[in-house]
Amino acid sequence: MNSDKRGSTISSTAAPELGPEYIPKHVAIIMDGNGRWAKKRLLNRIKGHEKGANTVRAIVKTCRKIGIPILTLFAFSTENWQRPKVEVAALMSILKRFLVTEQKEMMENDIRLNVIGQIERLSGEVRDALRNAMELTKNNKGLLLNLAISYGGRYEIVRAVRKIAGKVKNGIIDPDDRKDEITEDLISDHLYTRAMPDPDLLIRTSGEMRISNFLLWQIAYAEIFITDTLWPDFDSKEFIGILKDYQDRERRFGKV
Ligand code: IPE
Ligand code: IPE
Ligand code: MG
Repeated sequence: MNSDKRGSTISSTAAPELGPEYIPKHVAIIMDGNGRWAKKRLLNRIKGHEKGANTVRAIVKTCRKIGIPILTLFAFSTENWQRPKVEVAALMSILKRFLVTEQKEMMENDIRLNVIGQIERLSGEVRDALRNAMELTKNNKGLLLNLAISYGGRYEIVRAVRKIAGKVKNGIIDPDDRKDEITEDLISDHLYTRAMPDPDLLIRTSGEMRISNFLLWQIAYAEIFITDTLWPDFDSKEFIGILKDYQDRERRFGKV
């Protein structure tokens, strides 16, 4: 087994079946399948999103217990703005409610909330709720919960390029100077996820074999796990099973 930057070595009593070594430092999840979950039950898609919020609560708690330092959840993509207005409004209202109801839990569990995405496209109300939750939890150290909202991976890279170009134009960066060279690290430093390690593990629920514009740059070497389980049915037991599978994989990073 390759021990290269495999993960942190926080020991865990929460999931004894997991080796204390190689707990991933960063797990990213594409939470998909809420609509199908509802459809199967002849319910409105929105019921699926509501049920999905319960899964978020459970998985966040499990990450905290196991000692995973960073969890990034794909909650709403830039493409999801094209969904019917009522569905977008419902998703925003579920998000707003979640940000209020979970404050106590986040404080008790030492969870820091962060948002990645085009926050400027969100309504003032949602932005306020996000800002409040981030402000309240800013000193928490147990788990960094990144919510990807109005997030698109390509746009994130475009934004980084714009920021770097701006710095070159203003003379803050001189790419001809060796110390200012445009490197992979410099680009990483201009993404929403700056200062965070890349995800070790990417999970997608509901069986779709695609990335859907999520963390394009950061998942270069992530281990990918796709489960057919629909997000509202996903639970901690399955999550721990995936972590176990991750621990058994060999990460080669292009080496032999
Ligand atoms: C994921 O579930 C939630 C969001 C994308 C906001 P979906 O709403 O995509 O559910 P399916 O894919 O239609 O089943
Ligand atoms: C990806 O799911 C976005 C989120 C989970 C927030 P989608 O359901 O939007 O992705 P596609 O449309 O199946 O690619
Ligand atoms: Mg979907």
